[in-house]
Amino acid sequence: MNTLYYGDNLTIMRQMPDISVDLIYLDPPFNSNRSYNLLYKNTTGLPIPEQVEAFCDTWDMDYTKQELSFEIPHIMQKYGIKKDVVMFWNYMTLSLKEANPKLLAYLIYMTVRLVEMNRLLKPSGSIYLHCDPTASHYLKIIMDSIFGQENFRNEIVWCYKSRPQSKRYFGRKHDTILFYTKTDTYTFNWEAVSRPLSEETVKKYRLVDEEGRRYRLEGRGITGSPIRSAKDVEPKWEETNPELVVRDYLDEKVGVAQEDWWLIDIINQSARERLGYPTQKPLALLDRIIKASSNEGDVVFDPFCGCGTTIESAIQNNREWIGCDIAIHSIRLIQETRIKKYGLSDGKEYEVSGIPQSVEQAEYLFKQDPFQFQYWAVEKTGGFCTNKKTADRGIDGRIYFEAEGKLHSMVISVKGGNIKPADIRDLRGVLEREDGAKMAGFICLKEPTKAMYEEADAAGCYEYQGIKYRRIQILTVREIFEGKIWDTPSKVKAERKDGGQMQLTI
Ligand SMILES: C[S@@+](CC[C@H](N)C(=O)[O-])C[C@H]1O[C@@H](n2cnc3c(N)ncnc32)[C@H](O)[C@@H]1O
Repeated sequence: MNTLYYGDNLTIMRQMPDISVDLIYLDPPFNSNRSYNLLYKNTTGLPIPEQVEAFCDTWDMDYTKQELSFEIPHIMQKYGIKKDVVMFWNYMTLSLKEANPKLLAYLIYMTVRLVEMNRLLKPSGSIYLHCDPTASHYLKIIMDSIFGQENFRNEIVWCYKSRPQSKRYFGRKHDTILFYTKTDTYTFNWEAVSRPLSEETVKKYRLVDEEGRRYRLEGRGITGSPIRSAKDVEPKWEETNPELVVRDYLDEKVGVAQEDWWLIDIINQSARERLGYPTQKPLALLDRIIKASSNEGDVVFDPFCGCGTTIESAIQNNREWIGCDIAIHSIRLIQETRIKKYGLSDGKEYEVSGIPQSVEQAEYLFKQDPFQFQYWAVEKTGGFCTNKKTADRGIDGRIYFEAEGKLHSMVISVKGGNIKPADIRDLRGVLEREDGAKMAGFICLKEPTKAMYEEADAAGCYEYQGIKYRRIQILTVREIFEGKIWDTPSKVKAERKDGGQMQLTI
């Protein structure tokens, strides 16, 4: 079944069966040392709410994830990669450890995932690794090591136009896509992605036969023939020496095979397909890859699916699909836009896996990734997340509501671990200093103590149109699953309208 997984693709891939996918496209973070913000766009004239970090693209050797304790040679050895290749990575690792530990961390992160992708791919399958010049040269050696140099097919240069930015070097206006296959016998539908013949070429088919078909005459390339293999041979030769010429019919031409450089526009500010996801790729790019390297009914897998460009292209081209992303926003965005657009029904035509459906699953998410737990909890209660880098201390998100003709916010704090009355006192402090915030909400996994509720009650009430609302409210994850919601005068709903931009409506 088509599946959208929320979570780390390494964990997910390790649970997927061997040789189960036909095509993999991956567009991982590029080691570019930046974080990408997802802007909640507000087009109603109300104040702009938060920005949330879609994902972070920075790497460190002391990054504490367990998988980074493995080193590249060990990973490769375990997966049965040739001894000399393992040896090469031994030296490389030693050198990078000193010279560039961040790059090494990134390469380990990629290697441990790429060996899994190799395991998942069917013998006729292909993999396209999308990267940029920051690390593409290192990634190519890793791909050679895992998939085999003999299975390298192309280094595709995706060129795009946008304003040049530098006066110190040439404008960097391309990405690199490394195309490998699992074996030498693989799906490649060059005709499906061929370019139409140019007008100039079409004009050359100037002769018309008895059935009205257009053709040009070519020499047969016979040794000693005066016309050899020349093209556009005069028609008189057909009458005098038909054995020396052959008809080349226009309607038998499929098109021109694509080169390894592709000029495809990036998604500009006003493009209809734009969803506001920071690294969204154009559908045309994915269409070309999917049409060329898979057939109808094949399984296409995108382990870093972002806002789901691969998924939409797979749907349009009648392929099965599996997508995976570690950011909850990505999963929500795909559901709210792409999946909604095609009216796929949850549980029948696709399923979502990994979004907590119970307190235990929420606890698991918290243990895996506390930030994703925060994002999940804030959004689950209808809020907007705060960017963790720029966040004010103690504010993980905001709920917006309308009162007195204005937009007000309720600040949200999320705690996955142990909780105590001092957390509520701190939140009260945040509320006092926050201009415009009328209320504060506290979300927790553990059950609060009586003293915490008393502390919250001590903050008093906000009154609007004769109704009192507790200034500090507490919601446990258990209560959220039971359907309990924040008590506010009105709800502000965030939704995506035309083009997928987030809008606020009251
Ligand atoms: C460059 S974006 C992909 C954009 C995508 N091609 C599109 O068109 O929208 C990379 C994505 O990988 C996700 N990501 C990063 N690390 C991940 C991991 N370990 N497992 C799953 N997804 C991850 C990020 O959240 C981000 O959405």
